[in-house]
Amino acid sequence: MPVDPRRTLPPYRIKVVEPIPILGAEERRLALEQAGYNPFNLRADQITIDLLSDSGTGATSAQQEAAAALGDESYAGARSWFRFLDEVGDLTGYPHILPVHQGRAGERILFTSLLKPGQICVSNTHFDTTHANVKLVGAEPRDLPCPEAADLDSSEPFKGNIDLAALESLLTGPDGHRVGLVLMTITNNGLGAQPVSMANLEAVGELCRRHRVPYFLDAARFAENAWLVGQREAAYRDWTPRQIANRAFQLADGCVVSLKKDGLSAIGGFIGLRDGDLHARCEANLIATEGFSTYGGLAGHDLERLAQGVREVVDPAYLGARAASTARFAQLVNEAGVETVQPAGIHALYLNAGRLLPHLSADQFPGHSLGCQLYLDGGIRCAELGSLYLGGLDDQHRLVTPAPFELVRLAIPRRVYTDTHLEYVAAVLADIAKDPERVSGYRIVSSPPLLRHFKVRLEPLAAATGPTTRVGPKP
Ligand code: F0G
Repeated sequence: MPVDPRRTLPPYRIKVVEPIPILGAEERRLALEQAGYNPFNLRADQITIDLLSDSGTGATSAQQEAAAALGDESYAGARSWFRFLDEVGDLTGYPHILPVHQGRAGERILFTSLLKPGQICVSNTHFDTTHANVKLVGAEPRDLPCPEAADLDSSEPFKGNIDLAALESLLTGPDGHRVGLVLMTITNNGLGAQPVSMANLEAVGELCRRHRVPYFLDAARFAENAWLVGQREAAYRDWTPRQIANRAFQLADGCVVSLKKDGLSAIGGFIGLRDGDLHARCEANLIATEGFSTYGGLAGHDLERLAQGVREVVDPAYLGARAASTARFAQLVNEAGVETVQPAGIHALYLNAGRLLPHLSADQFPGHSLGCQLYLDGGIRCAELGSLYLGGLDDQHRLVTPAPFELVRLAIPRRVYTDTHLEYVAAVLADIAKDPERVSGYRIVSSPPLLRHFKVRLEPLAAATGPTTRVGPKP
């Protein structure tokens, strides 16, 4: 369906720009070889379009930078802290707000203050650091995504939901007493950027109250979830994104939020809490490990950017333009013959590499292969979400348990790339789709025991060949 540009105009123009590196094909080949065929090891100045993450990679506004210049760096009780507190307190409605330097610091502080070894933390899907932080306190992370999420092609509007029936049977079953926390991730980053409906969030709240289990949101993309709710859930059609986000926070007992996404800033996060005792425990931990409770590891100028960022991010014109841009990108990629998780979310496209590269088996890591080819052909960096990241390996680094899907995430930084940049990525993908068999598989050469995807080194099974039609400058 053609999109009306009069309804999807970005409500800003570009004031400051940064050159992007453009390398030749041989330079890219060498760079990837030297990086051990792991895009995490590339230098950022070897990358033309960086879609590795939408976290901390957004562009700030003139208003944010003006506010940052007024940052108050007093050790305690800084003016900037009160500005941050006013904005975040108003957005969430929680009586207690603790600043942290990023989301995972909030996770660590909350879980060590709330969870006990042997308890279960239930989620629609834990993000990887969240999963790791639950395990670090000796608790068990358990994902209960709704059944619709398993069908990558269906256009169900809320495939980020939790499976309510499974949650209820866990809570009423023999393990029910072990559930120490229910944590809903909005939007569901681990499962295709799919939103969670307000009906689902409300039903989870009822179950948690009935079973006296704390209920938190991992709300890194609170504004994007709110936008998709406004578009897809009839009862919220007339609500503003800010009202929807506020209502979502109000349905839960608290939240952990990475503000590196919808805070429109390079760093930051917070914990929101209703319970005074839990706040006191988290605050003690925060002061010992992050910083005093009026800065939490952040500078005054960061707090200023964040206070302004959370205000800008709920602007319907901004969210509508960003959602439309991702939808247009998805359409171009799909028309080029590359399937993506449906329906398109906002912060990323998830490419179905397993379908595009059927000549590669899971142990040849099709998602990783597609990611490497995007770099070789177009200088594009992205993240694999398939067997390299999620699969089980034996001692010889051979794959023994493949991931359910072989996906590649193209994360889209906020206010950074124009539709022309995304058209370029779609053109590089279209070339791969014309001749997918030229994409080589990979084998692991060395792998660390923990957090494999960051440090793993690989080698191609065959020399990759260039595209039949050249795209990009300086081929
Ligand atoms: N929760 C979710 C849903 C996330 O996506 C992330 C980070 C975190 C928590 C942790 O926050 O990075 O500020 O410590 N996601 C980034 C990504 C890294 O690329 O998706 P953080």
